[in-house]
Amino acid sequence: MRIVLLGAPGAGKGSQAKKIAEKYGLPHISTGDIFRSLRPDTELGRIFAEYSAKGQLVPDEIVLKIVEERLEKDDCKNGFIMDGFPRTIPQAEAFERDIHADVALNFQVDYGILMDRLTGRWTCKKCGAPYHVSTMNGITVCSKCGGELIQREDDKAETVAKRLQVYDSQTKPLIEFYEKVGVLKTLDASKPIDEVFEKIVQILDNL
Ligand code: AP5
Repeated sequence: MRIVLLGAPGAGKGSQAKKIAEKYGLPHISTGDIFRSLRPDTELGRIFAEYSAKGQLVPDEIVLKIVEERLEKDDCKNGFIMDGFPRTIPQAEAFERDIHADVALNFQVDYGILMDRLTGRWTCKKCGAPYHVSTMNGITVCSKCGGELIQREDDKAETVAKRLQVYDSQTKPLIEFYEKVGVLKTLDASKPIDEVFEKIVQILDNL
């Protein structure tokens, strides 16, 4: 099963991707996580830091090369979950030319909620698990792997606002793109995490 997750920053793509990966045994490919794992003193690491600090997208040619290399790995043979890719029309066109998504899950959430989710998010430095300050009850390490919980640089309010603008202009058009491809499924991602996941399971089990 080849799954693409579409949605604004903070819509819950990463949270749900981890649950889907666990239930269906598929690799979770997050382009954001791949970029964040780069050493900051490498050329690519520096390019990422420069773009993400401004809330902007990394140029398409760099992203496409990274995704192509990742998809060549053995664990992708039976499918994958794409989290954060494609994110522009040229990325989607390149992806659909070679590989087709079986389903594009579109996570719909109001912008007010997204701002709260992102500015309140803490992330495990080791495994990438996302937490929200409102439910952390003072914990400082990840309950899954013991890694340190940190706040992402690009989750500051002013950068979040810019990321949402970039989503509107460059990524939102992918909703229409995947509607035309005929694999779009939109879900209300403002519901609690487990409810959203139940809906996803219903969709995936009926493909
Ligand atoms: P990336 O890492 O992909 O960030 P993003 O798309 O902005 O997505 P987020 O990780 O911020 O949000 P999410 O939807 O995964 O939400 P999450 O589950 O964490 O990209 C970062 C940067 O990398 C980009 O800005 C760009 O520079 C670069 N990049 C990456 N891919 C690229 C590409 N293809 N092209 C070009 N550049 C690229 O949840 C957020 C919070 O909400 C958490 O605290 C979570 O606990 C909470 N939460 C989640 N779901 C719920 C729920 N249902 N109810 C209540 N709380 C919830």
